[in-house]
Amino acid sequence: MIAYFNGQYVSKENIKISPDDRGFLFGDGVYEVIRSYGGRLFKIDDHLSRLSRSLGELRMAPVSLSHLKTVADQLLHRNNLENEDATLYIQITRGVAPRKHPFPDPETSPTVYVSASVLQPSPAEWASGIAVILVPDLRWGRCDIKSVGLLPNVLASQQAKEQGASEAVFVRDGVITEGSHTSFCAVFDGALVTHPANHHILAGVTRSVVLDLCVTLGISVRESPILERTLKGASELMVLGTTSEVVPVVRVDDWDVGDGNPGPITSKLKQAFGDLRAV
Ligand SMILES: Cc1ncc(COP(=O)(O)O)c(C=O)c1O
Repeated sequence: MIAYFNGQYVSKENIKISPDDRGFLFGDGVYEVIRSYGGRLFKIDDHLSRLSRSLGELRMAPVSLSHLKTVADQLLHRNNLENEDATLYIQITRGVAPRKHPFPDPETSPTVYVSASVLQPSPAEWASGIAVILVPDLRWGRCDIKSVGLLPNVLASQQAKEQGASEAVFVRDGVITEGSHTSFCAVFDGALVTHPANHHILAGVTRSVVLDLCVTLGISVRESPILERTLKGASELMVLGTTSEVVPVVRVDDWDVGDGNPGPITSKLKQAFGDLRAV
């Protein structure tokens, strides 16, 4: 595959990352994952503005978003992905410098890497519903920044896998925040409830699309904390993400959600999301 690395289009296998890269040494970088449907990059402006915000919050140098858009299009083109479903991965780190904790010399160029991959077929359970486990949210206080420092997410995701579940959902001080790589929503009394977009969650692009769809579909929305102790009272649960879109959650730890099947609001949103990105 052809990837983009620091200004050049090169074969991915030939990219060499310095061991002094701050992304490698400190996880000092940010990333985005963008979905392309048949060559159309879905909500690319929202992803790029979140990237730009993440860079700003970490006091990293801004990048040209229009240049990144060109790179994204070029990678789809150069990898013959213009008629395929694909994902684009962008990672920007604070660059290469001798290992010292404070920021390097301001002249240090960021490391910019972008790759494209064909989307793998979705697991069948994304339609029939997944099992999740609840895990303590051990992450830092700035989960709104899409940082490459994902160790608690990795550990939680691995724990889910080992317990036969598809996603781990974080609980912070008795409040459900989000999944290890997804946003989390519950349905209470016919209303969609999701954690407010503050420092404790990533403001998911899919989450924002789904909240807009709720308005269109006349589903009421509450952006308020979901208490773990009230979770069994939810009629439906779902997780949302760029790759998985809208996925029903039918089991949490050792109990079934509702009757153990995807609920009507989740199905409606899944359908509406599919219609939207097909346009
Ligand atoms: C922690 C976390 N929350 C939520 C999401 C979903 O965000 P998006 O819908 O923008 O993919 C992700 C996606 O990677 C994530 O890592």
